[in-house]
Amino acid sequence: MYKPSILLTTSLAALISLTANASDDDRELIDNMRLLQYFSHKASLSIDARNRELADFYVHELEEAVEETGSIESYDGHAIGELSSAMLRPMLESLEQALDDAEWSDISQAFDTMIQSCNSCHQATEHGYIRIQRSSENPWMQDFSPLN
Ligand code: HEC
Repeated sequence: MYKPSILLTTSLAALISLTANASDDDRELIDNMRLLQYFSHKASLSIDARNRELADFYVHELEEAVEETGSIESYDGHAIGELSSAMLRPMLESLEQALDDAEWSDISQAFDTMIQSCNSCHQATEHGYIRIQRSSENPWMQDFSPLN
């Protein structure tokens, strides 16, 4: 009688800590997604305004956020980190390269391709109903045009 009850307590404790970790990961993922959307939108407005310096800045912020996505192991049985590295990261790198020397139309195209990869991952993780769509509306008290 003694041993099983210890076992039960131990496995209950393990289960509780597992659940706690899982909800930490959930919070981390949703906060991270919010950041991705925020910086993507600002990158997009900078590209629309043909502001290379500002677009570079937001693409860099996106890179840091995507790095965090890459470190989230799993969510609901989906390998978030691996999916992000396979789907989103290469598209972000292409966008970064395009910003180095490509025409604005190609930069804009690279941005659209990256957004497609966001949506592909939503589909791959059973969240296909979250559809990211590029918007040229500026809801911020911020001027995205180049300084000169
Ligand atoms: C690795 C797969 C993956 C990639 C890549 C990914 N997402 Fe997500 N995204 C998810 C999952 C899974 C959820 C649902 C999270 C949850 O249920 O807590 C989500 C949720 C969201 C949400 C809902 C949260 C909110 O605040 O409304 C937004 C917005 C979002 N993602 C934006 C993006 C953007 C923008 C990109 C690309 C720059 C992106 N996601 C790339 C998997 C991904």
